[in-house]
Amino acid sequence: MNEKDNHPGEIDLSRFYVLPKQELHIKDFDNRGDWILDIGGGGEGIIGLLKGRDVIAIDRVKRELEETKNSSLKIVMDVSELRFLDASFSYATAFFTFMYIPEADFEAALSEIWRVLRPGGALMVWEPIFTIPQEEKSKKLAVIPLEIHLPDGTVIETGYGGVLRDQSIETIMRPAKKTGFRVIEKKVDKHTFYVKFQKPD
Ligand SMILES: C[S@@+](CC[C@H](N)C(=O)[O-])C[C@H]1O[C@@H](n2cnc3c(N)ncnc32)[C@H](O)[C@@H]1O
Repeated sequence: MNEKDNHPGEIDLSRFYVLPKQELHIKDFDNRGDWILDIGGGGEGIIGLLKGRDVIAIDRVKRELEETKNSSLKIVMDVSELRFLDASFSYATAFFTFMYIPEADFEAALSEIWRVLRPGGALMVWEPIFTIPQEEKSKKLAVIPLEIHLPDGTVIETGYGGVLRDQSIETIMRPAKKTGFRVIEKKVDKHTFYVKFQKPD
C-alpha cells in the first residue's frame, strides 16, 4: 500500500520489515519457588503469565508495565542499572527484550544480569532472528508477529517491533560469552531462537 493511500490513524506497514507469523510454544520450568527476574517484562508479560507471583518484572517504561495483565510484581527499572543486590536471583528471563536494546549496550546489560544472578543461576532468552534483505534495509522497524502458546492452553496473538537490524543467536552469544556466561541449552528455528545461559558455580 502506498503511504498516501492510508487513512489517518492507520499503520503504514510498508515502512516495516515484517516476518511471517511465528508459532512459539513456551515450556514451563521449575524455579523451585525462587524469584524470577523478568527483564523488559511489560507488554504482554508472557513470563508473568507463565510463572505468576514468582516473577519480578522490570521494564524501563512505566506504561508498558501498567498495561501488563499478570500477577507479577512490576517495577520501573532499566536493565543497565538494576537496583538489586549482587547474587539476588537464581533465574532471569528476557522475552523479546534484547531486540529493543542497542547492540552496543548488550555487554553492559548482560554484566548487570550476571551481577544479580547467583553462581549457578540461569538467564533464559527468547529473540527473533532477522536477516534483513538489501531491498528492505531502508525500512524503519522490523516486526515479528507471534502466536504464543502457554502450557495451560492459553494462546496469545501479538507482534513485537524493534529497530531494524540483522540479528542472530550470535548477536547475544558473543557478549554473553565475554561476560562469562556458558550456554547450557539452545533452540534455533527459522525466525526465532531460545538460549539458556548459566553463570558457572
Ligand atoms: C517486546 S517488549 C515486551 C516483551 C515482554 N517481555 C512480553 O512478554 O510481552 C520489550 C520490552 O523491553 C523493554 N525494554 C527495552 N529496553 C529496556 C531496558 N534497557 N531496560 C528495561 N526494559 C527495557 C521495553 O520497554 C518493552 O516493554
